[in-house]
Amino acid sequence: MTFDTRTLTTDDLEGVWQLLERAFGGSNPPEDRPVEFALVDPKRFYGTYDGDIPVATGGSFALTMTVPGGLRPVAGVTWIGVAPTHRRRGLLTSLKRRMLDDLHTAGEPLAALWASEGAIYQRFGYGPAAWNVSLSIPSGAAFNRPVDVGDLQLTEPDAKALAPVYDQVAARSLGWSARDETWWDYRLHDPAHNRSGASPLLSVVAGGPAGASGYALYSTKQQWEGGTSASTVIVRELVAADPATHARLWRYLLDLDLMKTVTAYFAGVDDAILHLLAEPRSAQAKLKDNLWVRLVDVPAALGQRSYATEVDVVLDVVDEVCPWNAGRWRLSAGPDGATCTGTTDAADLRVNAGDLGAAFLGGSSLVARAAAGHVVEQRAGALAAASIAFGWPGPAPYAPLVF
Ligand SMILES: CC(C)(COP(=O)(O)OP(=O)(O)OC[C@H]1O[C@@H](n2cnc3c(N)ncnc32)[C@H](O)[C@@H]1OP(=O)(O)O)[C@@H](O)C(=O)NCCC(=O)NCCS
Repeated sequence: MTFDTRTLTTDDLEGVWQLLERAFGGSNPPEDRPVEFALVDPKRFYGTYDGDIPVATGGSFALTMTVPGGLRPVAGVTWIGVAPTHRRRGLLTSLKRRMLDDLHTAGEPLAALWASEGAIYQRFGYGPAAWNVSLSIPSGAAFNRPVDVGDLQLTEPDAKALAPVYDQVAARSLGWSARDETWWDYRLHDPAHNRSGASPLLSVVAGGPAGASGYALYSTKQQWEGGTSASTVIVRELVAADPATHARLWRYLLDLDLMKTVTAYFAGVDDAILHLLAEPRSAQAKLKDNLWVRLVDVPAALGQRSYATEVDVVLDVVDEVCPWNAGRWRLSAGPDGATCTGTTDAADLRVNAGDLGAAFLGGSSLVARAAAGHVVEQRAGALAAASIAFGWPGPAPYAPLVF
């Protein structure tokens, strides 16, 4: 049986949303729709129809993301789902084919996504480009240096107050995306049905006359066990423009009265809190894959970023899904930028599309990909040189918000 795939219109969104709810096995009340739908440019979204019934969907947001070298356009792939009645018949595969072809034609060299399951996207050339830890820290945990919390303001979250410091930090934080009003509405959307009994979202803001220098968005969940408080602080986002603000916000969260644990879903793998704790192992850290990246156009994408060190390397790219990427590319690159052009010179490294996606943000090293048997060195010394150049001498990348 053949199915018809087309781009969506605004009128299609409700039907496709219901398909997604069935695919994910959840249900969201109608009041969530406006916030979710406001993010969608229907021309970037697809529906596959069995007659009039949507049976597969997927699309992408036109994000602006911080990558090594600055802010770049990135297709933020999302809304991927196939009806339970139509799974495992190749509908996702043909939708991904269409999306990658269209992104390539449109000249969008980079795609990124959050995976519900990592196993889904590797076959399409995505690599694990960023990792995060979720932290669970006992309230009151001591620091290894004195930190004065100072004056903080506790308010309901107000995007206008938070946006300037977010913009400042996001512009230098790999994997973070620019936020307009619709993204702030999405970030701060906090319906009671999503709280699992926790308080409404609060924001604690550090700042001075020049404006906020940081904030934490958090809620608290009250629980009692045998007459003793077992309550939890749930940190949704912590943004700090400088180390002092970062330490003050964490000290505040760890010292809230009657709390037993502070949890943070998304922290970088090298977050400074791990270096502030007197007993780092008290922060139970769970490692998770964060963003997955796909280089839709290898030379354009590699030519767009900057590199930690000077490097000159011939990459032999294996890419069965996007054959226009396959072949040998000479990357001549450094901290000031890069050129990446086709070559007939001998290869220094053989890489798969997923290796380049994994290494693109500096969050997974080419050395690690080689250790897993993916990258193959073909000139002695090339792997170490390229791996150092693709790395990044700043905080590890991660995205703080699921899209
Ligand atoms: C994941 C999902 C989109 C796959 O759609 P689908 O149309 O069944 O996928 P396809 O038929 O094109 O499968 C292509 C291949 O991927 C494999 N695959 C699909 N889903 C997979 C999964 N969750 N884990 C591992 N492999 C998977 C298939 O087995 C198939 O492999 P094969 O070619 O070797 O036979 C669908 O199962 C779904 O909607 N799941 C729930 C929602 C979800 O997780 N969406 C992703 C959000 S990030």
